[in-house]
Amino acid sequence: MKTKLLFLYAWLMLAVASCSASEPQAEVPAPPPTEKPEEPVEPTGDKKVLIVYFSHTGNTRTIAGYIHDTVKSDLVELQTVNTYTDDYDTLLAQIREEVASDYCPPLTTKIEDLSSYDIIFLGYPIWVETAAPPVRSFLTTHDLTGKTVVPFCTSGTSYAEASYRLIRSLCPQSTVLEGIQIRRGTYDMAYERIIAWLQKIGVVKLNNEGSDEK
Ligand SMILES: Cc1cc2nc3c(=O)[nH]c(=O)nc-3n(C[C@H](O)[C@H](O)[C@H](O)COP(=O)(O)O)c2cc1C
Repeated sequence: MKTKLLFLYAWLMLAVASCSASEPQAEVPAPPPTEKPEEPVEPTGDKKVLIVYFSHTGNTRTIAGYIHDTVKSDLVELQTVNTYTDDYDTLLAQIREEVASDYCPPLTTKIEDLSSYDIIFLGYPIWVETAAPPVRSFLTTHDLTGKTVVPFCTSGTSYAEASYRLIRSLCPQSTVLEGIQIRRGTYDMAYERIIAWLQKIGVVKLNNEGSDEK
């Protein structure tokens, strides 16, 4: 009797499995690719892309490198005439003053032929709750009228919104797209987020292996 019951149970399981296998499956769109492309890809719409960034301790430079590895672009690091100190307390006191007075530290960086670019990625660390002062210097000495500006930043735990507001106010004739913020402790996911974000804002379209799109 026990053997008969076991046999019946096995037969039922087989029948259920074959039924569900033949049911039509719902179309699930493939998720956007998150793998780094082998080569940087052409930006969509035949645009020319520049990545400009300031970085003091290298975090923002890392993120700028991820963007540069993904989309064909030129890369420029903003350098200040007076190098910022490595002593945190001294630097913090100085930056508090610079931010409070809207100071623009002079830059040594010269950008060749800025007018030829359509999209400008602008990267910086959050310093004292806003974009590091070299960002203000860059935006007040370069005319970005008609260009698309894309902020990206690295930070501790602060929010990036104040820095986005600053950028929008300093280039009112530009289209400022949704930025990305990489917080301390989230670098293991940063590349995947960067790739998803670049596709979301429409700067690149990566080939989606496994999707039906040709
Ligand atoms: C002077 C100073 C001020 C900072 N202020 C903030 C802040 O207000 N909020 C925050 O989240 N992180 C703050 N940070 C942390 C930096 O944003 C973070 O370490 C960033 O990733 C550094 O980027 P970098 O390596 O490209 O210079 C501050 C760091 C420094 C040195």
